[in-house]
Amino acid sequence: MKYQFESQRVSYPYFVAAMALFAAQILFGLVIGAQYLWPDLLFPAIPFNIGRMIHINLLVVWLIFGFMGAAYYLLPEEVEGEIYSTKLALVQFWMFLVGGATAIVGYLFGWHDGREFLEQPFLIKVAIVIVVLMFIFNMIMTMIKGRRRTSISIVLLTGFLGLAVFYLFAFYKPANMTVDKYYWWFVVHLWVEGVWELIMAALLSFLLIKLTGIDREVAEKWLYVIVGLTFLTGIIGTGHHYYWIGTPAFWHTWGMWFSAFEILPFAAMVAFSFKMISKRARNHPNRAAVLWTIGAAVLSFLGAGVWGFMHTLPQINFYTHGTQITASHGHLAFYGAYAVIVLAMTSYAVPNLRKTTGIITHQKQEIFAFWTMAVSMIFIALSLTGAGIVQVYLQRVLGMPYMETQSYMTVFYAIRLFFGVTFAIGLAVYLYDFFFNGSSKSLKQG
Ligand code: HEM
Ligand code: HEM
Ligand SMILES: [Fe+2]
Repeated sequence: MKYQFESQRVSYPYFVAAMALFAAQILFGLVIGAQYLWPDLLFPAIPFNIGRMIHINLLVVWLIFGFMGAAYYLLPEEVEGEIYSTKLALVQFWMFLVGGATAIVGYLFGWHDGREFLEQPFLIKVAIVIVVLMFIFNMIMTMIKGRRRTSISIVLLTGFLGLAVFYLFAFYKPANMTVDKYYWWFVVHLWVEGVWELIMAALLSFLLIKLTGIDREVAEKWLYVIVGLTFLTGIIGTGHHYYWIGTPAFWHTWGMWFSAFEILPFAAMVAFSFKMISKRARNHPNRAAVLWTIGAAVLSFLGAGVWGFMHTLPQINFYTHGTQITASHGHLAFYGAYAVIVLAMTSYAVPNLRKTTGIITHQKQEIFAFWTMAVSMIFIALSLTGAGIVQVYLQRVLGMPYMETQSYMTVFYAIRLFFGVTFAIGLAVYLYDFFFNGSSKSLKQG
């Protein structure tokens, strides 16, 4: 067995749950993508708004399962000690799975709470907070009991603490819509352009150290630069959501300048990855994990950095706000940053957790899956960008009614669906490798 600490194995069910929910997310993505072409499809069983809700909620839930699994895997190696309580980790796992599943099934029966991404009913929200607190408690105790505390573990903990704290704003529902939206972004923006970025940077650093054999000190310097840039730009960068919602006018200036520089932490992650790989002390046999790791840096730079910058200046956002340009960026950013970093951790950690002595198999399939999914997602983003450009011109420049513009965008929605299917094929290959990586094959290689 290649894992060094027995308790690292508690991360395994987290990776399994993440992968299963990822598959479900994509199934719903295909359904709502198809509904763009055939609006009556599956109505009234799965109306578009409910399918969309399930698609994005599954996304957030599987990513958090992935983050937690990654944390339980790397913490023992980082702090040189076992997880404080694997029992707590398992209880927390089942609570999160049951809570998440109840929320998703509930949506199908109309049990939800309106606001995008935060649709979980009140009781489920409370359960989520309890689960995250249990996780953070376990994490802190593991760090206290461990033999050392590394920068990676501290940045990771900070990220999870932030995730918990900002989620609390989901409980605050002011009647005034401007105030409501103002705080809604405290969750949505400060998660993905703030504290989640810390989680990503910590996982990236861990992977790069393991995969390149380069000294921890080098990675830590980069990690601090990335964390600094994230906070410096991302917090006030929230202003790029305050241009048109009735918030004070100074946000045009502040939001513009700070969010424009949000590209920097993502650029730093690309530089960090290439530097570490080019100076590597050894060639790691898990080439797929190396590819997924560099992929996370590059695709997040494209999706968050480039596609984010594209519509972040108020002069441009005035036209693109709430169009398919937004959806295009949302897809490439979420996938490139958070889905890919979780998949990188999965590709690295899971072979080590398997009973079959951590032999790395199916590299070809995994590399095929990486490219199929990456290329498909880039084309999904490009097709939505195309749709967005048509929409901006017809609706925002010419003033054509919204529904009428849609009929001019059909070809782009068809292209999106086509690449949705190829994305699903790539994912199927990845998951086949994940779930059916049989011992017979591993033994043959060994
Ligand atoms: C990994 C990081 C990121 C993720 C996951 C992400 C995701 C998203 C999502 C899902 C939305 C749509 C929210 C909604 O209205 O429902 C959004 C909106 C937006 N994002 Fe990002 N984003 C990231 C980083 C960035 C960065 C770095 C920038 C700027 C450089 C940026 C600029 C914007 C802007 C301006 C909007 C508002 C679009 C509009 O007015 O309709 N994002 N983002
Ligand atoms: C088979 C591939 C996929 C298809 C066909 C698909 C389709 C869709 C559709 C139709 C919407 C609703 C857009 C709207 O309201 O107009 C949506 C929203 C969204 N999807 Fe996907 N999706 C896919 C994969 C993914 C993946 C892999 C991710 C992230 C890892 C993702 C993240 C999101 C996000 C963040 C939103 C909300 C975007 C926004 O509000 O701007 N999707 N998706
Ligand atoms: Fe934002």
